[in-house]
Amino acid sequence: MEDPKATLERIVNVEDLKAALEKIADVDPLEAVLEIGAGHGYSARFWLDSVGATGRVVSVDLRNRIWPTMNFDSRWELIVGNSTDLNTVATVAQRAPFDLLLIDGDHRREFLACDWAFYSPFVRPGGVVLFHDILHPLCLGARTFWLAFKESHECETFAWDKCGVGVVRITG
Ligand SMILES: C[S@@+](CC[C@H](N)C(=O)[O-])C[C@H]1O[C@@H](n2cnc3c(N)ncnc32)[C@H](O)[C@@H]1O
Repeated sequence: MEDPKATLERIVNVEDLKAALEKIADVDPLEAVLEIGAGHGYSARFWLDSVGATGRVVSVDLRNRIWPTMNFDSRWELIVGNSTDLNTVATVAQRAPFDLLLIDGDHRREFLACDWAFYSPFVRPGGVVLFHDILHPLCLGARTFWLAFKESHECETFAWDKCGVGVVRITG
């Protein structure tokens, strides 16, 4: 069985996001990020470090589970709510547009479809949507969603270790 510390490090590593960011280096500016699924705050921390001093990150999650060690500043905002709730969508709409959307909330197929439908319109033309864990062996919903999605959308599958990131560019 895997050592719990190793498991934690594997779960919270953002190496896949780092690599994905290199792939989308042409997205300019990258100043406004929306993420569905804040978890303990690792990806939000990563985006805050990427968007620069004038950037901003908006995270949506069912509850606040951010670890205090993340040291977030006023560039970060948490919207507590269910991403599929229309009140949440309306709140996020007031913060749009975004340069990048990360979908990393509920990994069941119907939730991914919902998050894409509700939040991708808030990404500006030239921006990008990233789907997390689309190749993860334990995320069958995400895998199934992506298999169907990539048949009907122009997108790129980016394999990283066991996870994988789906990249969709918004053309307008
Ligand atoms: C895989 S974790 C996100 C990890 C995070 N991006 C990080 O790097 O630490 C998934 C998160 O999505 C949240 N979540 C699940 N279903 C959701 C929903 N319907 N609406 C909003 N957040 C949801 C969970 O509470 C959980 O914190």
